[in-house]
Amino acid sequence: MTDLKIGIIGGSGLYKMDALQDIEELQVDTPYGPPSDALIRGNLDGTPVVFLARHGRNHTLMPTELPFRANIYAMKSLGVEYLISASAVGSLKEAVKPLDMVLPDQFIDRTRNRISTFFGEGLVAHISFGDPVCNGLAGVLGEAIASLNLPDISLHQGGTYVCMEGPAFSTKAESSLYRSWGATVIGMTNLPEAKLAREAEIAYATLALVTDYDCWHPDHDSVTVEMVIGNLQKNAVNAQRVIRETVRRLSEAPPASDAHDALKFAIITPLD
Ligand code: ADE
Repeated sequence: MTDLKIGIIGGSGLYKMDALQDIEELQVDTPYGPPSDALIRGNLDGTPVVFLARHGRNHTLMPTELPFRANIYAMKSLGVEYLISASAVGSLKEAVKPLDMVLPDQFIDRTRNRISTFFGEGLVAHISFGDPVCNGLAGVLGEAIASLNLPDISLHQGGTYVCMEGPAFSTKAESSLYRSWGATVIGMTNLPEAKLAREAEIAYATLALVTDYDCWHPDHDSVTVEMVIGNLQKNAVNAQRVIRETVRRLSEAPPASDAHDALKFAIITPLD
């Protein structure tokens, strides 16, 4: 399997891809320690892919504890050029209902305790991040979702993902603030991944799967873990269908991506 190009990170609820065949479990060592779990390499309808459960297969890692750098480094070292990141999110807009799918094209960083760069220790570099998501990859995801005609599920192409630290959910004041900023969804994991993927020149897109209305909605209870878990299973089934169709399309026509040249345009201070 030398032509592996597609990676998948599964978030809460998506701990494996049922359709994966010829599975091989890889314990990948990285300069940043071990990834969240073994990487699962296999074939999805004949296309080689590698899958990683972001929180570990038994969901043992909280967002702040995630080894983001090890995860992206491991994907890169296996040859991944396109990374699909499936993630549970809360909705900050009335029109974005639980079980809907959002393909965010912007992020707002509200994390406080994450290392979101491979640079430092003498190597200073600044990558462009104005467009944090690969539009080509998000476009293929959007086409895949539309083609599946999933009943009662709306697709929202574009939108802003607020990435908060967690693990506690937001206060009502915070949730209202993010709504006043025009944000679409809220989650705890995708921004560090998107930044590191860009530095690693991997095209990255988020498939955000809505589980709840956070805590701002007057007609819905504030988000609880039970509420999130209630919708996770349905989302995991839908996400697998979307990812399978996206991988099929990517294998036929991989889109061009500026991310693949990200470092060409970065400001880098050379080491002596
Ligand atoms: N993940 C799922 N729902 C969430 C919410 N309301 N806030 C943050 N992360 C979430």
